[in-house]
Amino acid sequence: MDGASRDDRVLPFEERFRSEVIALWEKCGLTRPWNDPDKDIDRKLTDENGAFFVLLRGDRLIGSVMAGYDGHRGSINYLSVDPDYQTAGLGKMLMSRCEAFLTARGCPKINLMVRQGNEKVLRFYEQLGYAEEKAVSLGKRLIPDTQP
Ligand SMILES: CC(C)(COP(=O)(O)OP(=O)(O)OC[C@H]1O[C@@H](n2cnc3c(N)ncnc32)[C@H](O)[C@@H]1OP(=O)(O)O)[C@@H](O)C(=O)NCCC(=O)NCCS
Repeated sequence: MDGASRDDRVLPFEERFRSEVIALWEKCGLTRPWNDPDKDIDRKLTDENGAFFVLLRGDRLIGSVMAGYDGHRGSINYLSVDPDYQTAGLGKMLMSRCEAFLTARGCPKINLMVRQGNEKVLRFYEQLGYAEEKAVSLGKRLIPDTQP
């Protein structure tokens, strides 16, 4: 189902949306002490191959998503729909936007990460055709966002 209304617009991120985007991520439980959301936005704005979309209903910011392409795989980050507007097809619509964006750039596959224990979001991605793969996710921090 696509719960988009006639008032809905998907736009590239602009500075005027910054505080609303961060408030949305906080409301959706996406912020973590070790990731400074302001810095994450600044970094994304240096990415010339990717996209950072926001979803507006009228003047209200109710969704966001980042898509990236490294020349081999596509990635998705900060997918969020305001809890007041969830389960109406908007998350699926934002994902379709990202898939179309990445496909148009020749990206053959998306790999994305879901935090362990986030069963609800796993079900969401399964509905969209994503499947769990046998791989271990490794990470190494290069730039700390928080000072000790
Ligand atoms: C993940 C998220 C963006 C989904 O947005 P949404 O607008 O509620 O999702 P949709 O309404 O588009 O759902 C799409 C499909 O997934 C299914 N789905 C959504 N939530 C589900 C759930 N909790 N359990 C099972 N299926 C679910 C829907 O039934 C729908 O299937 P359908 O097409 O057969 O109707 C939203 O839940 C969210 O912002 N969560 C918090 C932030 C987060 O964890 N983001 C993911 C980071 S990896």
